[in-house]
Amino acid sequence: MLARDLRAAVGDTPLVGLPALSPPGYELYVKLEGHNPTGSVKDRVAKYLLEDAERAGLLHPGSRILEPTSGNTGIALAALCAPRGYKLSCVMPENTSVERRRLLELYSVDIIPSPAAEGSNGAVRMAREIADADPDVYLPFQYGNAANPRAHYETTGPEILRDLPDVAAVVAGLGTGGTLTGVGRRLKEHDPAAKVFAAEPEYGELVYGLRNLDEGFVPPVLDTSVLDGRIKVDSLAALTETRRLATEEGIFAGISTGAALAVALRVCNPRRLAEGSKVVVVSPDGGWKYLSTGAYAAGNLEQIAASLAETVWA
Ligand SMILES: Cc1ncc(COP(=O)(O)O)c(C=O)c1O
Repeated sequence: MLARDLRAAVGDTPLVGLPALSPPGYELYVKLEGHNPTGSVKDRVAKYLLEDAERAGLLHPGSRILEPTSGNTGIALAALCAPRGYKLSCVMPENTSVERRRLLELYSVDIIPSPAAEGSNGAVRMAREIADADPDVYLPFQYGNAANPRAHYETTGPEILRDLPDVAAVVAGLGTGGTLTGVGRRLKEHDPAAKVFAAEPEYGELVYGLRNLDEGFVPPVLDTSVLDGRIKVDSLAALTETRRLATEEGIFAGISTGAALAVALRVCNPRRLAEGSKVVVVSPDGGWKYLSTGAYAAGNLEQIAASLAETVWA
């Protein structure tokens, strides 16, 4: 790939087969969004959010941008804002992983901590309050901005169809809902029988980057009509499958990938999907930003999952 600048290098990520983990009669594939320039699926979203605002004449060198984020969107925005001279502030839960904070510091991002106990809903609340009180700050707001699902409708979805035209189902974690909505719409336009499954944490269970809709905030960009199922997953299952992806397929992914994989393994079942189906799991990021959380440390997985729930709430 030759790209004229970083923005042009976003997307076109590999779709990789999982021969060791595919249940008999099914073919699993993982779309490795960690291969984007800043290491996550949110590069696609940041690019679309900024391009929309630029087209509307809302951004100039020196403009101030504010966004609530569990980290990945902040890092993606930071990298894409730097060359244009936009100043970025991110509202993030105060206990988010140290790698995220260090990366944002590198890009001179102003980090505004929100209460850990309120999770990502607290970051959303605070960002809205700050933006309401300061009309000069631009709030792209990935949770409510149609450019978020459009990034997936126009790029992630078409890439999956290009590489695997007979894909029967896609599984993705539910954060803002942008991936599920955009990819889901595109796949169903191509084949109305295609299925879309959301991996959603159990109520009160914490999986980095994902949210349970019953916890009080349904992102406006989420179109639940494209979903064929919201399937619950606990943090132990997410961690277990993240590790199996490494040990059995060699793929080092973030924890929400394990959550989506756990759901994919459950839907590979004749009651949900015909035998022979090809199923794509969207992997939002690689594992690098989670190393300090202890998620990959040796030891008892149940204890690690329990301690992650206490320390990483974003
Ligand atoms: C690590 C991780 N996994 C999953 C998601 C969910 O993706 P989406 O916001 O498109 O629902 C996000 C982002 O919110 C994320 O950062």
